[in-house]
Amino acid sequence: MTIDSSITLRQAFLLYGDLPVQYLPSEGEDKPPKLTDGTMPVTSEAAKEATQGLKFPSNFLWGAATAAYQIEGGLHHCNWSMWEEQGTRLDGHATVEHHEKAGKACNSWELFDKDLDALKKLGATMYRFSVEWSRIEPKEGEFDEAVLKQYGDWCQELKEAGIEPMVTLHHFTEPAWFVEKGGWEKRENLLFFQMYVQQTTQTLAPHVKYWSTINELNGYAICGWLAGVHPPGKKDDVLTMLTVFRHLLVAHTMASKAIRANSALQKEDPIVCMALSHVYFLPFDTTQIPKPEEPLPLLFWILNRILSTIVSLFFNYVFNLVILDAIFRGGRFPNFPFPFHFVASLAGWGKDLEALKDTCDWMGVNHYYRSYVQFGMARQGNDAPQQASPTDMFVVLPFGIELRAAAIPNFEKNEMGWDLTPSSMVRLLEILSDRYPSIPIIITESGTADTTDRKRIRYLASLLKQMHSLLEQKRIDLRGYLIWTLMDNFEWAEGFRPKFGLLETNFETFERKERKGSCDMLRAVFGASKEE
Ligand code: BGC
Repeated sequence: MTIDSSITLRQAFLLYGDLPVQYLPSEGEDKPPKLTDGTMPVTSEAAKEATQGLKFPSNFLWGAATAAYQIEGGLHHCNWSMWEEQGTRLDGHATVEHHEKAGKACNSWELFDKDLDALKKLGATMYRFSVEWSRIEPKEGEFDEAVLKQYGDWCQELKEAGIEPMVTLHHFTEPAWFVEKGGWEKRENLLFFQMYVQQTTQTLAPHVKYWSTINELNGYAICGWLAGVHPPGKKDDVLTMLTVFRHLLVAHTMASKAIRANSALQKEDPIVCMALSHVYFLPFDTTQIPKPEEPLPLLFWILNRILSTIVSLFFNYVFNLVILDAIFRGGRFPNFPFPFHFVASLAGWGKDLEALKDTCDWMGVNHYYRSYVQFGMARQGNDAPQQASPTDMFVVLPFGIELRAAAIPNFEKNEMGWDLTPSSMVRLLEILSDRYPSIPIIITESGTADTTDRKRIRYLASLLKQMHSLLEQKRIDLRGYLIWTLMDNFEWAEGFRPKFGLLETNFETFERKERKGSCDMLRAVFGASKEE
């Protein structure tokens, strides 16, 4: 008996026109070839060859992204330094692997020149970095002019080198005094954020055209209040997580307004983006859970497949589209049968959602991994996972059933345990272009952690080639690509272990050294694309 439930469901869902049916796996996608993504060149040499002659539009924005806490060093009065001091999480695990502390990180606060040189050497035309609230306003209401000036100078130096700065106003960190007042959990605290963005955007507006407001507010709320793996480390606190999420949405609206108001006298209008975290959820892989022959197991398998498909659509909708719908299609979008906006309006969020409309000019896409949804019996004993992680999220439901969203085993991974799949970014670009056809996209973060650079170069080559082909076919309006990240840095809860950098950092001497394979390949593509 052959039943392809995803096709049947696609047909059923198409009736509802507005569902994210594009997220249903396309043919063969739920049966990934074992071990590798078929689109990746097998060797670094093949990767370099694959990108030879690729030429992107001459105004395409190329570069790298970083975040203040991960590179600047010397930040000791914010939520993350408090988290490091705390040492252990509620579940007993270290707050940061091996109890590492960001400390001096890459010392970029003092060594920005080195970062600038590296960007110039690469031929970058954009650099996305975040400014640190706890440095700008170390005490409530006391703004450090010298710090703001230094950030302004960085922007100026970047521009003089032909590199557009993109400034992020909040990338996972806030001052300790803000945390002590209850942080994002209290609505009245939004006023503090408003004062911070007002000061910062006023000072930087003459130097900055491209802005990203709040980095990955969806991931930030989930990691801090649901998974408990980032500060403040609360676990399964769904209601507070939703409150924080809502306040971050309002904070984004405030930031967008402040940017626009403070840029009013500039020659060019600002471009406001929100860099949102995108995970590509798929129903379970049929090579991992093959279809059984026996009638009863087959029935369960079909049920599992149907439910997993519905849940993966739901996750894609809630995680990837809810906010974008509010921004680009208007606050109270019905979206039956996942009426998030409707339910949220009943809960009193209506005005906050409506206010999001048109707060962004471009879509900022951060994407790293995909995740497969499945139902199964709860894992126990030695099989029981010790903790949730982005590659193994699970909830135990009644009757000993577990709902999981996880990476598939036996597939090529990076140092974070994430599948190496450039094709999931490509799918995402198609989906977003399809749903919001008139909105330009910029990839605000994409990359992979690999000390050897061999996987990174294959990954990037495949992605560049596929993006180039989508652009040539005029299927996407992609304006730029920013690699995560410029140099090895402090990777939050994973400490210094994962190596995402195009440059290797020596954390004793703060020397940066290019990873030649990826850097040479990018230099060639960036260079060729700049030629008229
Ligand atoms: C964050 C970065 C982080 C990267 C890799 C993204 O979600 O924005 O700060 O370093 O993932 O873990």
